[in-house]
Amino acid sequence: MKKLLFVLAGVAFAWTAVAQELRITHGPYLCDMTHDGVTVVWTTSKPALSWVEASPADSLNAPALRQARYYQTVAGRKLACRTLHAVRVRGLQPGTDYRYRIFSQEVQSWPDVNNVTYGKTLDADASRRRAYEFRTFPQAGSGCSFIVLNDIHGKADYMTRLCKSVDFSKLGFVAFNGDMSSSVESGEQLFKAYLDASVSLFATGTPILFTRGNHETRGVFADSLGDYFPGQDGRFYGIYRYGDVCILLLDCGEDKPDDHAEYNGLADYDAYRTEECEWLKRAVRSDEFLSASARIVLLHIPPMAEAWHGSVHLNELFVPVLNEAGIDLMLCGHDHAYSFRPAGEQGTQFPIVVNDNKSYVRCDVADSLICVQVVGLREKVAHVHEFPLKRQF
Ligand SMILES: [Fe+2]
Repeated sequence: MKKLLFVLAGVAFAWTAVAQELRITHGPYLCDMTHDGVTVVWTTSKPALSWVEASPADSLNAPALRQARYYQTVAGRKLACRTLHAVRVRGLQPGTDYRYRIFSQEVQSWPDVNNVTYGKTLDADASRRRAYEFRTFPQAGSGCSFIVLNDIHGKADYMTRLCKSVDFSKLGFVAFNGDMSSSVESGEQLFKAYLDASVSLFATGTPILFTRGNHETRGVFADSLGDYFPGQDGRFYGIYRYGDVCILLLDCGEDKPDDHAEYNGLADYDAYRTEECEWLKRAVRSDEFLSASARIVLLHIPPMAEAWHGSVHLNELFVPVLNEAGIDLMLCGHDHAYSFRPAGEQGTQFPIVVNDNKSYVRCDVADSLICVQVVGLREKVAHVHEFPLKRQF
């Protein structure tokens, strides 16, 4: 009996030691892709100093070459005492395939000043025997294919089944157009709700463009959501170029009035949308926007003249700016039901496709046409739209 207890104690000790070892707990996944950079995000089981090594995929004997190292820094200092790592890889070439590897070095103690004691370094890719890969956004070219997911509301298994046959390697990016979870309570919840599934499906190699839904403004951890989707200047709205195609990401805020009891005094979205609209007015005058061959807007809540407060406010603020700017297509979600509003109806001079909560939208942009397909389980195409492009390059 004593011997058995001794063996069990030994097994328990070994198990604890393994459990306490530094591990990659989630990721990596790619955010904020541009023609010259990308942000790689992952988490570790313990605080660590982390970095990314990247090199062009066509480098001869790439693993043997000294690869560029990139760290997460604040004002020149590397961030070390963290378990969420978001490393910007910069200075890349447009439309180019890269290999990358992620590393985390355990920070065992840090009593004072810079007296850090480091533990072992984890090379998450060593066991895979090959590095991860991505392709930077091209600087020119009118072609762009992507899919849009929205209103998944934490149903990671459904999302996986929905995307089972998607060839993500053929896509420039995957856009999350709001309400991927029903609220934001913790980092772990985000991974369980849809991020782990995204990593398994595509996100190690195909980047995420993230648009916030109204449900993602809710929850005790909602103010930290941006740490998981690092974007331009820490905002949830932004402007991206994939070659000649311009993608505008807009943030909808909440759907009900700010003083609604459901928000418990936490909502200030009228002021936020007004501020965002000032940014939008500048964005549509930028060269990035004006020189684009196609202009596509992603916004979770469809703007409408007669609806709930958020939708009406978006309609009042954003639609006049977008009408004037010349938008080719807006993609929305939120309603959990498909709908289509042609250009020229209900005061919008551009078409709006609202995706339901059971389908993804596939968008293929070519020289003179945007093709939109609403696709459900088993690749069943429920709706197809084609929008000719006015500007041709
Ligand atoms: Fe929503």
